[in-house]
Amino acid sequence: MICKLLIQGTTLISQFAIIYPLILPSTIISMKSAQINKYGSSDVIEINQSTPEPSLSPGKVLVAIKAAGVNPVDWKISEGGFQQMFPLQFPSTLGIDFSGVIKQVGEGVSPSDFKQGDEVFGQAGVISGGSGAFAEMAVANMKSIANKPKRLSYTEAAGLPLVGVAAWRVLTEDMSLSKDQKILIHGGAGGIGSIAIQLAKSLGAYVATTVSTSDEPFVQKLGADTVIDYKTQPFEDLLQNYDAVFDTVGGDTYRRSFKVLKKGGVIVSMLEQPDSKLMNQYGVKAIFQFTQPDKEHLNKVAQWVDQNNIRVNVEKEFSLDEAGDALDYQKNEHPRGKVVLAI
Ligand SMILES: NC(=O)c1ccc[n+]([C@@H]2O[C@H](COP(=O)([O-])OP(=O)(O)OC[C@H]3O[C@@H](n4cnc5c(N)ncnc54)[C@H](OP(=O)(O)O)[C@@H]3O)[C@@H](O)[C@H]2O)c1
Repeated sequence: MICKLLIQGTTLISQFAIIYPLILPSTIISMKSAQINKYGSSDVIEINQSTPEPSLSPGKVLVAIKAAGVNPVDWKISEGGFQQMFPLQFPSTLGIDFSGVIKQVGEGVSPSDFKQGDEVFGQAGVISGGSGAFAEMAVANMKSIANKPKRLSYTEAAGLPLVGVAAWRVLTEDMSLSKDQKILIHGGAGGIGSIAIQLAKSLGAYVATTVSTSDEPFVQKLGADTVIDYKTQPFEDLLQNYDAVFDTVGGDTYRRSFKVLKKGGVIVSMLEQPDSKLMNQYGVKAIFQFTQPDKEHLNKVAQWVDQNNIRVNVEKEFSLDEAGDALDYQKNEHPRGKVVLAI
């Protein structure tokens, strides 16, 4: 019903614009976006056909969004999972990761940073100073974007910012993973895991990964050396003396992972704070990774992708109108790689 009213609203505005082109102020530029007016599951998401185009401020750029990547954090934000830390102001446009083309730059953005027409990827989430990526146009902080990897399509590039920078930071910075070291990557078929496998292989490491039965061929194709079906095989009985564990699952999987590490090894989790008792018991280092993609890391990821012909597996594309279905799919179906909104 709300969608219907909004669509009717837009039709009226455009009819008015045709009849009275000189009267309608040029500043009324509206666009389509996926918004929420309250926290809740996907049925609170509204497609607003007459969202005012976001306005530029210093240090920001206005981007025509080509595609927006979906991450678990999108439905967690929409459901209110982060409302204590980052309370939203309603209506709030959803979406963080994107790829697109710069339409306008704000004050303080020099041509050596970005200029009109640049193809970029990065983040435009409201929690990081953007206007929301599930929209036809978005404002993004110039520090949260970089030039799009040339070899990737817009759809693939939109699936890369958060998972690419997370994998990059964990493997190259937190773990300093090097040639011939052994790493276990949990959730190898997921968004982060599928990039982490490719990065670990290009660093020359030996990769074991845990996945569901049906995902085994997918991760083998990405280069995994040992694949463990987490639903039927206890990974800690099969692997020993590993240099590193990358945990993208948390909970019991995190705690059992300490047994796989050799003394002096490292476990990095996207979900769990370091457990000092387990660290001391096993003589290993534990790190929690909180990823906020910035220009420097996005550039490093883009360069690595272009130089090594890395692929982002986009399992399913949705339209902007189907943003709610896309969040449900990400949450319930656990895609191989990524879900992306083509805009
Ligand atoms: N700290 C941060 O800054 C940060 C940043 C990004 C993401 N995250 C979090 O990191 C997690 C992973 O993100 P993502 O984008 O990679 O999510 P994703 O695309 O949904 O991937 C998660 C993968 O884990 C698999 N999985 C589930 N239970 C498993 C288990 N017990 N053992 C092995 N694999 C299992 C899932 O496959 P099935 O089909 O088998 O279930 C899925 O392939 C999410 O919880 C996300 O919110 C945190």
